[in-house]
Amino acid sequence: MNVRSLAVGSAIAALMVATSLVGSKAVMAQAMGDKIIVAHRGASGYLPEHTLESKALAYQMGVAYLEQDLAMTRDDQLVVVHDHYLDRVTDVADKFPNRARADGRYYVIDFTLDEIKSLNFTEGFNLEYGQRVQVYPKRFPMFGSTFKIHTFAEEIEFIQGLNATMGRDIGLYVETKAPWFHKQEGKDISKATLEVLRQYGYTTKDSNVIFQTFDFPDLKYVKTELMPALGMDLKTVILLTDNESKETYELVDGKWQPYDFNYLLDPQNFAEIAQYADGMGPAYKMLFDLEQTKRGHIVVNDLVKNAHAHGMVVHPYTIRKDALPDYVSNVDELFQAVLIDADADGVFTDFPDLGVAFLQRAAK
Ligand code: G3P
Ligand code: CA
Repeated sequence: MNVRSLAVGSAIAALMVATSLVGSKAVMAQAMGDKIIVAHRGASGYLPEHTLESKALAYQMGVAYLEQDLAMTRDDQLVVVHDHYLDRVTDVADKFPNRARADGRYYVIDFTLDEIKSLNFTEGFNLEYGQRVQVYPKRFPMFGSTFKIHTFAEEIEFIQGLNATMGRDIGLYVETKAPWFHKQEGKDISKATLEVLRQYGYTTKDSNVIFQTFDFPDLKYVKTELMPALGMDLKTVILLTDNESKETYELVDGKWQPYDFNYLLDPQNFAEIAQYADGMGPAYKMLFDLEQTKRGHIVVNDLVKNAHAHGMVVHPYTIRKDALPDYVSNVDELFQAVLIDADADGVFTDFPDLGVAFLQRAAK
């Protein structure tokens, strides 16, 4: 079964309501609005995140979208990697021991593509008392097998090749990582990302790609300057987090300040946000009243309802069966809470097979 076909009746009803509320904007948003599963960094619960191997596995699991997180190299190449550091997921500290910055981190932007391709990629780890400790101990063994980092273009060619051989049309869900940081370093990661997407034929809202970012100031720049200049208009999602994460910075009076995510969480601002974003990507916990929510008693807040009222879809992140919150007792309860109780339009998960299976059961 196609996961997009879930609840066609309710989608049509929602389409009619949304259309009456906000016109053609809602039509576009709801067109991407059937329930979907997004492979978070590929099938990263089973193979090291963002490897082409993890993308192939997720592809076969039946997802609608494969996620790409992007960073830029010293020689201006886009590589598919979650952090703008290399040290959590590679042997960079062994191969280039003198290339860390003062903070001890090895930055993607300080290495050429050739240097990055010489690294071995692995399941993620933290350093504890100088020892590498795997973040998710039951996942793929650290430094098991051989994996490499690849470019964004290489991943697009891989997915388009699979689409050709498998007779499917699986989409890209592309996140520019830390545009503010790349700007500080003199690089425009969003422009580079759009140029690659255009080169591979992704130019309109009908193209099977969603452009996502935590950086709302950069999203405004993308929508009002970059996309028009490049003759593009892609679907976009603004990612939401709390202020503790210090995920994004913005220039205020010439100084870089942490971005205040409270602006994006205030429904009074949703009309303005919806001018730039076709959807929202909150952490899934943001869908619930966490003061009242307990195991067996999920209390949903108004985030999804408010987003829908402004024609935006909601794709929360990230369901992990090996990192469940205490208000659910198994992963299906979390899929139920996010996709059915809170009525999100899709969800990012490290375990795409479990998400697809949940939607298939729900559709029955
Ligand atoms: O982009 C959605 C989700 O991936 C956001 O979290 O930190 O895994 O990129 P992160
Ligand atoms: Ca991401």
